Amino acid sequence: MSLPLDTAQLLDTAQLLDTELICKDFPILSRTVRDGRRLVYLDSGATSHKPRQVLDAERDFYENHNAAVHRGAHQLAEEATDLYEAARRTVAAFIGAAENEVVFTKNSTEGINLLAYAISNSSTAGPEAARFVIGPGDEIVVTEMEHHANLLPWQQLCIRTGATLRWLTLTDDGRLDLESLNDVINERTKLVALVHQSNILGTVNPIREISARAHEVGALVMLDAAQSVPHTAVDVVALDVDFLVFSGHKMLGPTGIGVFWGRYELLEALPPFLTGGSMIEVVHIDRSTFAPPPAKFEAGVPMAAQAVGLAAACDYLSDLGMDRVAEHEHALTELALVGLQQIPGVHIVGPPDTVERGGAVSFTVEGIHPHDVGQVLDDLGIAVRVGHHCAWPVVRRFGVPATTRATFYIYNGSEDVQALLDGVREAQRFFGVPEATEPNVATVTAGVGA
Ligand code: ALA
Repeated sequence: MSLPLDTAQLLDTAQLLDTELICKDFPILSRTVRDGRRLVYLDSGATSHKPRQVLDAERDFYENHNAAVHRGAHQLAEEATDLYEAARRTVAAFIGAAENEVVFTKNSTEGINLLAYAISNSSTAGPEAARFVIGPGDEIVVTEMEHHANLLPWQQLCIRTGATLRWLTLTDDGRLDLESLNDVINERTKLVALVHQSNILGTVNPIREISARAHEVGALVMLDAAQSVPHTAVDVVALDVDFLVFSGHKMLGPTGIGVFWGRYELLEALPPFLTGGSMIEVVHIDRSTFAPPPAKFEAGVPMAAQAVGLAAACDYLSDLGMDRVAEHEHALTELALVGLQQIPGVHIVGPPDTVERGGAVSFTVEGIHPHDVGQVLDDLGIAVRVGHHCAWPVVRRFGVPATTRATFYIYNGSEDVQALLDGVREAQRFFGVPEATEPNVATVTAGVGA
């Protein structure tokens, strides 16, 4: 049953984590912006802030253990290697994976490119890699809600191989149109690459259903989990996917570190993308053999301090409990959706309720360009993202030039949502936008967020 809810009532209840305590861990959140205003940071979908625990872990690595890992016989090299491999174990446990299935990359984008280039390299990589070879007549499936990182690598792979790109389209409320699932994913499909939680719409996709169809026709599934791993408990086995990527910097970790996960038997058969030191078994002047995964995919001196920082971020989130993190964000999202839809002239781009939805809330305000909304909010100390959010096909699908997007995380409280709602009304006043006669309908599922 759906009930109209009173925003003020929700403001009191949408606070499941102790954000006052959490904010104390984030040095940047104590600074002010724009002439002494409190920083209201609603842009964690782009990048999150870092708690002291993560900053300290990186600092400790550099101050006390710094060395190039997997090289050198001295004590520092040994300690650095141990810390790097311990970080891999922590990250693997965080997503329910085996440690030798976790490959450290720079970020999600690099992980997706790793897979795309490894697939291209398969055609010259011998019989073991034959299962990955694609060419004319084969199809790669994406969705219309992918951000550019999970679209361009597949466009380019199709150009390199002659394969065809296909996609699942969107419904008007920002969900995947699964009516065409069995047509789009068919016997010609070799790979389905899709997003878990949309960075612009907030939609959480039904991954198991899509995986089941992909596996039925013998296709592999790669999940872009950049916007889900930071916000909800993710278990790679339960999701039944074959590959998965995410970035450290969106989940309290450092920039420059991400994860490419794959089922071990696939990683064993997949050829490398980057080659060089550390990923080798035996090297001759004219030929080489490669180390087993994950080393096969980690050429060069790896990002050890960043991996250690990422492990500290996983520990921080695990201590809070990912289910509580998800519930907290769910409550804030509900508050934002209800509150925004009560403002005449505001339209949500994406699912209007919190069912199968994460905390990316995109909206437009009638009569005001999204960039101008962002400008007024910024003047009030509220940081949001504006633009196409690196998901240009999505704004094109919804016929808008851009959106204003708020994203929530563990350090946001209901006062931040209230600041957003007040800021949007201020933008309407500032631009003299005449009030629409009727607010949009705002209903939520009873009981959620309490
Ligand atoms: N993909 C990131 C975002 O959504 C950068 O903002």
